[in-house]
Amino acid sequence: MPLVIERDAPAAAPQPPASPRALPDPLLRIAGVSLEYRTPGRVVRAAHRIDLDVYEADRFVLLGPSGCGKSTLLKAIAGFIAPVEGEITLAGVPVRKPGPDRIVVFQEFDQLPPWKTVVENVAFPLRAARGLGRREALERARVTIEKVGLSAFAGSYPHQLSGGMKQRVAIARALAMQPKVLLMDEPFAALDALTRRKMQEELLALWDEARLTLVFVTHSIEEALVVGNRMAVLSPHPGRVRGEYNCHEFDLSSIGSRAFQAAVQRLHQRLFEPAPEAALR
Ligand SMILES: Nc1ncnc2c1ncn2[C@@H]1O[C@H](COP(=O)(O)OP(=O)(O)OP(=O)(O)O)[C@@H](O)[C@H]1O
Ligand SMILES: [Mg+2]
Repeated sequence: MPLVIERDAPAAAPQPPASPRALPDPLLRIAGVSLEYRTPGRVVRAAHRIDLDVYEADRFVLLGPSGCGKSTLLKAIAGFIAPVEGEITLAGVPVRKPGPDRIVVFQEFDQLPPWKTVVENVAFPLRAARGLGRREALERARVTIEKVGLSAFAGSYPHQLSGGMKQRVAIARALAMQPKVLLMDEPFAALDALTRRKMQEELLALWDEARLTLVFVTHSIEEALVVGNRMAVLSPHPGRVRGEYNCHEFDLSSIGSRAFQAAVQRLHQRLFEPAPEAALR
């Protein structure tokens, strides 16, 4: 069976220990979280009673259709939006505001200040949010830039880079901060297919090296299976968790295999089946 519904078989940790009692505490806990936008005369519920546990070194994917609240949930984890009910905790501490332990990489290529070079872009938050001195910040920035293969462009400005290169800088900037959780909101969605594949490969290599904890948003089933070790499938607006799946056995080399195709098929059905939750609205 390529996919395991964890709701039915609660083996939620990345490498489940023999006894459920030995489960580690989740690094990130989302407990009964609902999120709303309030505009004059209107309240939009973006996510409804979300329960998710993310463990250290998870590559946890949020997969769901457009408008289901993925970005909103990520913003709440980042501390930009407060839940109207429920609670988000990181290492047991309630999330109340943004902090350097949670860094977001967005889809847009224009998330880098254009007046700073690549190395300055990566070094700046290290000084501003981590309090590093200039020399130390530049040194750590250079090391991280090398990891994403951009050493030759350390002195370039964002407008001199391709979309994929800008995303590498955004990833380097986030990695250099050594966050507890790296939050990625469709970071490769605007890239061409080949670059996207390459970036997925690079992200997995970076994870392999640093064992980061990732929360990765996508609406691509294939990308979810390749990037994630675990995933939650969200329903259409307002987002609810439809199911959780283990997908650690897949990587880029699995694409095209029968098991991979079967997993894609099942997730496709899960994503697009008529909404049982509609009756609850
Ligand atoms: N600033 C806002 N004010 C009011 N409603 C908003 C705001 N931002 C998002 N919404 C609404 O909240 C819901 C969830 O939006 P969100 O951007 O989180 O979806 P998403 O799953 O990230 O979609 P996509 O895949 O298209 O990025 C949508 O119905 C959207 O219209
Ligand atoms: Mg979004």
